[in-house]
Amino acid sequence: MDIETSTVREITSATDVVPTGGALGAEVRNIDLKSLDDTSFAALLEAFHRHSVLLIREQHLTDQDLIAFSRRFGDLDFAPIQENGRRFVEGLPEIYIVSNVKVNGEAIGSLGAGEAVWHTDMSYLDTPPIASALYALEIPPVGGNTSFCSMYAVYDALPSELKRRVADLKIKHDGTYNSGGFVRQGVTPTDDPRTSPGAIHPLVCTHPASGRQMLYLGRRRNAYLVGLELADSEALLDELWSYVARPEFAWEHVWKVGDLVIWDNRSTMHRRDPFDDHARRIMHRTQIKGTERPR
Ligand code: OGA
Ligand code: MN
Repeated sequence: MDIETSTVREITSATDVVPTGGALGAEVRNIDLKSLDDTSFAALLEAFHRHSVLLIREQHLTDQDLIAFSRRFGDLDFAPIQENGRRFVEGLPEIYIVSNVKVNGEAIGSLGAGEAVWHTDMSYLDTPPIASALYALEIPPVGGNTSFCSMYAVYDALPSELKRRVADLKIKHDGTYNSGGFVRQGVTPTDDPRTSPGAIHPLVCTHPASGRQMLYLGRRRNAYLVGLELADSEALLDELWSYVARPEFAWEHVWKVGDLVIWDNRSTMHRRDPFDDHARRIMHRTQIKGTERPR
């Protein structure tokens, strides 16, 4: 490649990544995820680590295309079994469906039409997924927006006294309930955070790709700060969570059909607004497998 071409390419990729203006997130424009060459993918990956969430609009992806694109980030998890005990897509265990749609009285996906509260995906595992990619096939006319929050920004905003208090703590990430409040397959529900099943991770983690520190909260329900009296754990968690919902740390995405959003599942949390259950919302999702424990 001569110098002129490489300059043009750099400028092109720089202008094609458009930050949301919020604490996190960027839109990558003018790309087709089905035919991304290695150079463009490298630029996309760099943007992903810089902005934590990427939006790519106007895609036309089959499940196989979604799987092929997602695999470029790493090995994929198989989707967890649904609340009703079924697999989402026969023959494609990598695809998870988020939907309220019912066929013959049976939900085709997870999470219904209610609110999905702030969470990060599957942090109750010892090695949680690196990222999740969500692709919009059908979208309700209003509602069902997804918000993301930067856990770098949340950590940075803590007063230094609070940073000192949390520095060496460990947190149990509950595995009982999903973000829609449904009990996970095969789990006996319990509401004692000290004894509920889940993985224990450092409360403050360092992101392996960026080297930046982040607060790793996972989700509020049944969370427990290991070794503390329950009341003290609850009080400190409430204090930390009071930083989460601040608009200056978040970005809200209003979906259109054909949007793909991929989020860093370690440096961000997400939530979803409820929507009218008479409307249809169908999203297909993949999850990139974790390779190491948070530390
Ligand atoms: C998810 C999730 C929210 C949404 O797929 O992990 O939380 O907007 N989805 O559907
Ligand atoms: Mn989620």
